[in-house]
Amino acid sequence: MTRRVAILISGGGSNMVALVRSMTGDHPARPVLVLSNDPAAGGLEKARDMGVEVAAVDHRAFGRDRAAFEAALLQPLLEAAPDIVCLAGFMRILSPDFVARFEGRMLNIHPSLLPLYKGLDTHARAIAAGDKQAGCTVHEVTAALDDGPILGQARVPVLPGDTPETLAARVLPMEHRLYPAVLERFARGDRTPIYLE
Ligand code: GRF
Repeated sequence: MTRRVAILISGGGSNMVALVRSMTGDHPARPVLVLSNDPAAGGLEKARDMGVEVAAVDHRAFGRDRAAFEAALLQPLLEAAPDIVCLAGFMRILSPDFVARFEGRMLNIHPSLLPLYKGLDTHARAIAAGDKQAGCTVHEVTAALDDGPILGQARVPVLPGDTPETLAARVLPMEHRLYPAVLERFARGDRTPIYLE
């Protein structure tokens, strides 16, 4: 049975593009929605061009009322009836109640080797710490931020003179390999972690 995948984005959606492009042929999943908290997110156009249903709910219209924003975000998401939800460059923190609705079937990609560097500015923190390696992690989303079971990691070297920008540029292509590989395995019901060098 083909698994229905919804992807949440906030910006350019390069990870979303990689995920959508991977779901072809005998892949067990297909994209059913790309949803953003920003109507101007560049990824929405890319998704439309790839023939994927899109929707946007502008979080700024709800001010500080996170519950109202999440209730609005939930509408198009539930209408798409996803089996799996992928957060891909989605920059809003979701409440435990929202996450609980998708417990065990919501994934996220985070640009660090978790549990190192939860939160923001991950590459700058790795460089400041003098780390020799950095990378990205795909994990199941749980109520705690950037904390769920790890489903995959990809490592890259931190090179002398690296800036957060040069390190991000080295990590991003690995994200585009790791996330699709994890999604395919996850969609087949296999949670064995994937490690890429
Ligand atoms: C990526 O570094 C990703 O790890 C983080 O957001 C950044 C942009 O992602 N979650 P995308 O290009 O919008 O997919």
